[in-house]
Amino acid sequence: MTKAHFGLIGLGVMGENLVLNAERNGFSSVVYNRTFAKTEAFLKSRGAGKAITGAIDLQDFVDKLERPRRILMMIKAGSATDAVIDQISPYLQEGDLLIDGGNSEFRDTERRVADLESKSFGYIGMGVSGGAKGALEGPSMMPGGTKASYDAIESLLTKMAAQVEDGPCVAYIGPGGSGHFVKTVHNGIEYGIEQILAEAYDVMRRVGGMTGSDMADVLAQWNTTEELSSYLVEITEICLRAKDQKEGNDLVEKIMDKAGQKGTGLWTVMSALELGASVPTIYAALNGRVLSSMKEERIKAELILNRTMIKSFEIGNKADGMRPLMDAVVLSTIASYAQGMELLRIASSEFNYSLNMPSIAQIWKGGCIIRSRLLNRIQDAFNLSPELPNLLIDPWFAEQVKNRLPNLAMIVSGAAEAGIPVPCFSSSLDYINSYRTARLPQNLVQAMRDCFGSHTYERIDKEGNFHTEWLDSNAN
Ligand code: 6PG
Repeated sequence: MTKAHFGLIGLGVMGENLVLNAERNGFSSVVYNRTFAKTEAFLKSRGAGKAITGAIDLQDFVDKLERPRRILMMIKAGSATDAVIDQISPYLQEGDLLIDGGNSEFRDTERRVADLESKSFGYIGMGVSGGAKGALEGPSMMPGGTKASYDAIESLLTKMAAQVEDGPCVAYIGPGGSGHFVKTVHNGIEYGIEQILAEAYDVMRRVGGMTGSDMADVLAQWNTTEELSSYLVEITEICLRAKDQKEGNDLVEKIMDKAGQKGTGLWTVMSALELGASVPTIYAALNGRVLSSMKEERIKAELILNRTMIKSFEIGNKADGMRPLMDAVVLSTIASYAQGMELLRIASSEFNYSLNMPSIAQIWKGGCIIRSRLLNRIQDAFNLSPELPNLLIDPWFAEQVKNRLPNLAMIVSGAAEAGIPVPCFSSSLDYINSYRTARLPQNLVQAMRDCFGSHTYERIDKEGNFHTEWLDSNAN
């Protein structure tokens, strides 16, 4: 019997779609799932008539694969991944390659790469983005591990990936857990943009009194612009236009206002804090979800703290594409990308990942959740200046800041006076204002630290570390 080119463990929606994608691209496959009933059901339905066979157990699975084996695991991140690695390892032979396509924590991937490679197996930690549709039609993929392991699967991945004008949306990311790190930051940016669009919706609904269809029309206009044309704007329009099938009114208004998370947004923020990267827009999005989950408390607090709208403010109108609001969305979205890219740059130097920033922007241009036209500009910015510390100072992005900052400030101040929370807009504004301020007030913070704790401070007029006896009358 001829052996299959490719093996998949885990027949969830993503796993099913990825194996169908591989098979469509000419890679015969064998699938294994913990419960064989699921394998059988898949082979009888979506897998029927395809070059896909099932395996009853792991011995059968490895026996059906050509060597060196290429095995993709699409299973829950965390201990489930370790358990599958432990179960399959005894069946693997030198040169076989395991690929983890889940949303694993990058440090887990670092450990697994080191462990598996020391046993002469290959191990790739690969971020996969694009949801169920992307997995089937062409996702964006971020594989990390040794270059030799990547080379062994490059032909498979480049065929499976989404394609954009300058190539497939996959490339070797770097060593160890770098692929999963980049996917984590992708998700952090995703959290930011989702919250930014939710804030725009809230402002249009509460200040503009707009219906779902009106708001969807605005999103449709935004989606034609270079700055906002993107997958997330596109699906926001769809969500706002959808009606409740029974009652005929806007479906979004029926949805509980509590957003959870699976961990990647939290990991982005934790990594940023550890690495000393500033990601306030992404943190605001994460915190927005945390506060949203406190529904019961918020209901009570609204009664006590009297949540009434104080006054209306200028947000634009449909005819001008809600220009002031659009400016707030554009700049906050840029802030979200800028923070994510800066975090990648800092992590790259800290972890010796040697990340190729233009290549990462290119990979994100198709297939993934944060795909957008803006990524062309991001790619150009890093091509122009590979060591660019922050996107905001690239000439094209700097021009955006200059032109749109007054409207972002107007929306934030209007929302503040109206009592409407806009955490991503306001933290983006503070981020940009802080970043473009040569002298911040942290000189006083340093003085206080030295006053109570003798932490010392540096001076702007001479080199060295200084301490003052602040409480001594001579200092006053
Ligand atoms: C993607 C998505 C996906 C992610 C969910 C979870 O790129 O396809 O990022 O991988 O798992 O969006 O995000 P939550 O934390 O919001 O559930």
